[in-house]
Amino acid sequence: MSSTAEPANLMEAVVSLAKRRGFIYLSSEIYGGFNGFFDYGPLGAELKKNIRDCWWNDMVRRREDIVGLESSIIMHPKVWEASGHVAGFTDPLVDCKVSKQRYRADQLFFAAVVVDGKTVGYVSALESEKTVEELQAAAENFKRKKGIQGTLAQVRAYEMIEPLIEQGQKLLDATGKTSATLSIAKDFTRATEAEIPLIPSPATGEPGSLTAPRSFNMMFQTNVGAMTDGSSVAYLRPETAQGMFVDFKNVVDTTRVKLPFGIAQIGKSFRNEITPRNFIFRSREFEQMEMEYFIHEDADWAKCHEEWIAWCEAWLKSIGLPDSHLSRYTHPKEKLAFYSRGTVDIMFKYPFGVQELWGIAARGNYDLTQHANASGKPQELFDEATKKKFVPHVIEPAVGVDRILLAVLCAGYAEEDVTDEKGNTEKRTVLRLSPRIAPVKVAVLPLIKNKEALTGRARALYTKLKRKYAVQYDDGGAIGKRYRRQDEAGTPWCVTIDFETIEKPGDTFTLRERDSMKQRRITEAELFALLEDQVY
Ligand code: GAP
Repeated sequence: MSSTAEPANLMEAVVSLAKRRGFIYLSSEIYGGFNGFFDYGPLGAELKKNIRDCWWNDMVRRREDIVGLESSIIMHPKVWEASGHVAGFTDPLVDCKVSKQRYRADQLFFAAVVVDGKTVGYVSALESEKTVEELQAAAENFKRKKGIQGTLAQVRAYEMIEPLIEQGQKLLDATGKTSATLSIAKDFTRATEAEIPLIPSPATGEPGSLTAPRSFNMMFQTNVGAMTDGSSVAYLRPETAQGMFVDFKNVVDTTRVKLPFGIAQIGKSFRNEITPRNFIFRSREFEQMEMEYFIHEDADWAKCHEEWIAWCEAWLKSIGLPDSHLSRYTHPKEKLAFYSRGTVDIMFKYPFGVQELWGIAARGNYDLTQHANASGKPQELFDEATKKKFVPHVIEPAVGVDRILLAVLCAGYAEEDVTDEKGNTEKRTVLRLSPRIAPVKVAVLPLIKNKEALTGRARALYTKLKRKYAVQYDDGGAIGKRYRRQDEAGTPWCVTIDFETIEKPGDTFTLRERDSMKQRRITEAELFALLEDQVY
C-alpha cells in the first residue's frame, strides 16, 4: 500500500534529487559555480539523450516529410544581421546602481501605493506566481511604516518596460499569469522618467537607484581568427533556427523534398540572459530542438499551425507529461512581430508557475526573404501549376531540451509512504519517468552476491540486455534498498534473479514495477517483448 503527497517545496526537492543522484550539477562547481551554466551528470546525460532521441525519431526518422540538419554554431555574422538579431535580439535591462543587480525590465513589476485615491509612493517585486500578493503586502507595509491613515486601494501590477499606457500595459491576473484579456487601465498614473526614481529597487527596498530600462543584446560575441577588432566579430548562435533557413536551398537542391516539408535540428544555443533563473529553466547555454516546416504561400497556414500545436502536445504526452500540467497561451495580435501571423506557446505548470515550454510560430516568409535580400541569393521555389516563383512560408515549433527535462523531473517526482504486509511504513522517493526517456530501463539484481549460480545468471542477462538498452547491474545491499535506489533514478523495472530462477523450471525472474511496486514472474523472452513494446 502507498500514499503519495507532494513535497512542501517541490522545486527544492527536485533540485536536491538532481544533485544527489547525478542528474544535474552546477557548472564549474569546484570554483563556486558559474551562473546560468549547468553540467549533466551520468543519469542526466542519459535522460537528455533519450529526450533528444525520442524527438529525433518521431520528428525526423518516422516521418517522410522532414529531414535533419546539423549546422555550425558560429555562422557568418551577416546571418544575424539579416535575421534581425544584431539589431533586435535585446532584452530590456534595468540596473540597480547601489546593489549592482541587473533585472530584466519585463520581469520587474511595480505598483503605486494609492491611499484614499492619492498615490503616496511605489512598491516593486520580481515576477513570480505571487507578484500581485507581494506587491499588496509591500504596499500595506509601506503605508504602515510611513504612518499613513486612510484606505489603501488594491494594487495593480505593471511591468517596468512598458510604462506607456498607449502601448498596452502587461497586467498580471490574480494567479500571477500574464493575461492578455485584462482591460487596460486608462486612468493609471504611468511610470514616467520622473517617476522611475520613486520606484524602490527589489535589492535594497529603497527608491532612487533603478535606471530607466535600456536595451541589452543577448548574443554572446567572440572573435574569429587572429584579429580581435570589429572585423572579426562573430556570435554564438542564439537559436538553431537560422541554420535551417540559411541551408534551405542546399537541402532543396540535394534531396528530393517537396512542399510541404520540414528541416529539423537539435543543438546548443547561447543567450547572455540577464537573469538566468529557476535552475535549468532559463540558462545561458541550453539546447534547442527546432523544426522549420515550409509550406506553399497559398497554403492554409492556420490549419497547418494548429496541426503542429496538436502534434507537439501529443508528443509531450508520449514522453510522460501529464495533460493536467499542459495549457496553451496564444500571443495577442498586438504583441506579435509585424511579420508573424500567430504564435501559440505550450505552457507547463512548473513549481514556480505556468511557463513557456514550446513555442509554435507561424512566421510567414520573413526569414527566407531577409536572407534572400541580404545574400542576393533568391530563396524561391517554382510552382509548376501557376508557373510562378514564390518564397515558401514557415511554421516553426521550437522547444528547449532542458525545459522538457525539468518538466519531466517536476511532473515525475513523488514522495510516498509505503506500508508493507507487516504494517511497517517507510518513505520512498520515486521518479515516475516514462520508459521512453528513463535513463536506466532495467536494473538487474542478483538476490545475493556471493552465490555464483545467481550472479552468473544475472550477469548473462545483463550482458544481453545492455547490447540494446541502458541497464544497470546492482548487487550491493538489501534488495529493498536496491529497489529504492532505482525508484529515485526513475528506473521503470527491476529484475531479481532469485532461487526460483535457478531451482525451478522455466528460468523466470521477479519483475518489479516501479510505480505499482507489484511483482510478477517473467521469462527473458517476455522481458525483451515488454521492452520492445514500451521503449521506442
Ligand atoms: N527560433 C525561435 C526561438 O528560438 P524562443 O521562444 O526564443 O524561440 C524556443 O526559444 C524555446 O527554446 C523556448 O520555448 C524554450 O523552450 C527554449 N529556451 C529559450 N531560451 C531559453 C533559455 N535561456 N534557457 C533554456 N531554454 C530556453
